[in-house]
Amino acid sequence: MHEENRQDMNQEKKVGIIGLGKYLPDNVMTNKDLENMVDTTDEWITQRTGIKERRIAGTDEATSDMALAAAESALKNAKLKATDLDLIIIATITPDMFFPSTACIVQQRLGVEKIPAFDINVACSGFIYGIAIAYQFIKTGSCKHVLVVGAEKMSSVTDWTDRSTCVLMGDGAGAAVLGEVKEGGILSVYLGADGSKGDLLKMPAGGSRMPASIKSVEGKLHYLKMEGNELFRHAVRIMADAALKATEPLGLKGDDIDLVIPHQANIRILNAVAKRMGIDPEKKLYLNIKKYGNMSAASSAVALAEAVEEGRIKKGNVILLDAFGAGLTWGAIVIKW
Ligand code: UT7
Repeated sequence: MHEENRQDMNQEKKVGIIGLGKYLPDNVMTNKDLENMVDTTDEWITQRTGIKERRIAGTDEATSDMALAAAESALKNAKLKATDLDLIIIATITPDMFFPSTACIVQQRLGVEKIPAFDINVACSGFIYGIAIAYQFIKTGSCKHVLVVGAEKMSSVTDWTDRSTCVLMGDGAGAAVLGEVKEGGILSVYLGADGSKGDLLKMPAGGSRMPASIKSVEGKLHYLKMEGNELFRHAVRIMADAALKATEPLGLKGDDIDLVIPHQANIRILNAVAKRMGIDPEKKLYLNIKKYGNMSAASSAVALAEAVEEGRIKKGNVILLDAFGAGLTWGAIVIKW
């Protein structure tokens, strides 16, 4: 086949999500529980963030355990076997260990050999970046089926004495299997990053800049540090802008979107984004932050899986994935279901 024709064919190829899965640890930590741990109240957390409870993984439960469970569920829903996969991408900032990657651990535990597997470190935007990468691999014909997982054990990088961050985070995993679809599929992808604002949300120690030491542990530098206020401002502006960047080229307006599946960092951020997009948050914003808090890369993955499970997304619906996180990073994807 001539290269020209191949490209035409590829342009027509529709890539979509063909199976979704999720895993949430059983252990629920409520705002009341947190009241006994730090100087906070259920009222403050609920009003300032929208969070009521979050899931906390067991001490013997690692990110790969949650990723594997979500992946197996996504494969089941896609009616595929692990051996049908051509690539595994895991978005996480809380890998089991620095190396080998969590994706390689999951590949081995899924019982598949040889196929490429890698982690991506894009914080809360990781699931969207993962889908964007999978989309390219399938579109070009390099892969038929790609597994994308957003999985985090945020409790392992949380300072449980810091009330400004410990009330926000939760653990969990969401997974998607992507492949060719007959109708609909991914319509547009927009990604971005701004490294100049990396200091607003980071884990300072444990890497090559500041290897783990008694001093780093005593200084609690292997926990996430966040400038919440400053991040909040950027989050609203950036998520609203990303939504526009992904929808505008398609000629879509807020009204044309059936459901927005955002990264769940703070209900006030999401309501402000909805207002800027001109959509009714009650009808068009999918929220599960109340139950799970901020699960970084797992948040939008779990939200998408639950929205489908609950029948909030129907065939033919146009949905928008929209995320923002450390890096800074952001991304938005429009999918016709
Ligand atoms: O995942 C993507 C990246 N993350 C984000 O986008 C998160 C963005 N930021 C936020 O969601 C919000 O900034 C927070 C929820 C983190 C904080 O809410 P805020 O309304 O920005 O509160 P604040 O940091 O301005 O703090 C207000 C007050 C402070 O007390 P003073 O200085 O006014 O006396 C804090 O010390 O609230 C206090 N405070 C708390 N009080 C009770 C901070 N945390 C707590 C707490 N309980 N847990």
